[in-house]
Amino acid sequence: MSIRPVLEQRAATPTLEGAGVHLHRAFGFQDPTELDPFLLFDDFRNDDPARYTAGFPWHPHRGIETITYVLAGTVAHGDSLGNQGSLGAGDVQWMTAGSGILHQEMPRGNAQGQMHGFQLWANLPAAQKMTTPRYQDVKSSDIPEITDDDGTRVRVIVGDFWGQRGPVDGIAADPQYLDIWVPAGVKKSLPVDTYRRSFAYVFEGAGAFADASKPTGVLLEKEVAGQEVHIRDLSGDRTLIRFGTGDRVTVQAGEDGVRFLLISGAPIQEPVAWHGPIVMNTKDELRQAMRELRDGSFIK
Ligand code: FE2
Repeated sequence: MSIRPVLEQRAATPTLEGAGVHLHRAFGFQDPTELDPFLLFDDFRNDDPARYTAGFPWHPHRGIETITYVLAGTVAHGDSLGNQGSLGAGDVQWMTAGSGILHQEMPRGNAQGQMHGFQLWANLPAAQKMTTPRYQDVKSSDIPEITDDDGTRVRVIVGDFWGQRGPVDGIAADPQYLDIWVPAGVKKSLPVDTYRRSFAYVFEGAGAFADASKPTGVLLEKEVAGQEVHIRDLSGDRTLIRFGTGDRVTVQAGEDGVRFLLISGAPIQEPVAWHGPIVMNTKDELRQAMRELRDGSFIK
């Protein structure tokens, strides 16, 4: 058994996207090998409608998959294939852009004006860059939720975990996408297959992710039942944690518990040519996509 070390912890960066959506970017548009097969992760939680309702009007995608997970509010969407709908709290949409789609994604918020959700981009391997576009809309009620004896709760959105299988299938990056709550004070060990790249994104409470034998960061000392214990720097809201190799991740929840996404996937290890919402293998393929957007032949 080997615990994955924490390679890096960093706060998500405030970013303006779409037609004027204020969001936080955990990673994206930097080194695409770092979390291969994942390219980008945006946290679009916001409690002020003026900062998100401009949304993401019509734009193209090619060569990737985008995964939208809504926690509160709704996201209205429509696309060039004729799909139209709305994602609500707890729902997931997995879009395989493949050879190309044009779509719009418009955050609408709830009655309290809150819009909470995340978008992840997963790369497609060369053999599937031009695959037929596909949508998987998953209702919250179809996502299995497991509660462990110690109160830990896991929503299995994609992949296999603790004997449950998530409802999204056929994804090239072979991802595992979990929404995990660990109650106050609980230390939890969570399996992650060794061949996967893995990261966590904390969005509620705080916790310490680390290998006890290899402390990282600042040590905070605490007295617990007369014993001195060391809890490494807690990762709080909007923190990305990037893990090294191993077969499990450990987390010690802080005094308010900790909720995070634990996401992992098989690296694709191919060249990346990236321009905005289009991600291919070569610059020639990017130029071709741009040409097709101009001459109207982008949608197959
Ligand atoms: Fe999009």
